[in-house]
Amino acid sequence: MTTELRQAEERDHSRIVAAIESWWTDSRSPAAARELSLLVPRLFLQHFSGTSFVAEQDGRMAGFLVGFLSFDRPQDAYIHFVGVDPALRGRGLARQLYTAFFDTASRAGRSRVHCITSPANSGSIGFHRRMGFQLVSGDAEIDGVPVHQNYDGRGHDRVCFVRDISPLPAR
Ligand SMILES: CC(C)(COP(=O)(O)OP(=O)(O)OC[C@H]1O[C@@H](n2cnc3c(N)ncnc32)[C@H](O)[C@@H]1OP(=O)(O)O)[C@@H](O)C(=O)NCCC(=O)NCCS
Repeated sequence: MTTELRQAEERDHSRIVAAIESWWTDSRSPAAARELSLLVPRLFLQHFSGTSFVAEQDGRMAGFLVGFLSFDRPQDAYIHFVGVDPALRGRGLARQLYTAFFDTASRAGRSRVHCITSPANSGSIGFHRRMGFQLVSGDAEIDGVPVHQNYDGRGHDRVCFVRDISPLPAR
């Protein structure tokens, strides 16, 4: 089946929310998956669709990436959220989404990409390592993984990733 990758649009918001609510129920309750979907409010698709991507197969959403160029840090870009349909994982879809983001960020003059995940998300940690991200030193360590304690508020520890990207000419 062919995968089509395209820039996200505002109309994708409801499908991204629905995807999070359905794809994440393998690891969470429906209520927790719904809560997770609140991490991608419509504003991301209104204001950052140019740096966000959707992968589709036969018109159905197969994966998405929500990212943006940092306003405050002119060298940096940030990947906020990524997800791939559990039935389609392990086929290079997230790699394609990340490559599209790296390309866009690099053409916009950015040289570094940041993202974070939860210490419990070993799949995400393995994926980001494989994608060439370094783990940023933290103030604690869990099973050899550097952790930033209370990074997103009390009890919300995070693992922080950073990766350099090669410069590309602007289009
Ligand atoms: C993490 C996630 C996006 C990966 O998507 P995917 O399409 O299966 O990933 P890909 O097939 O493109 O894999 C890219 C590379 O990462 C590796 N990889 C993918 N998942 C991995 C995992 N769980 N552990 C270790 N490595 C992994 C692949 O082997 C591949 O390596 P290679 O290209 O060098 O062979 C997907 O598992 C997912 O949606 N997880 C739930 C959401 C999530 O955790 N998001 C990240 C935090 S917000």
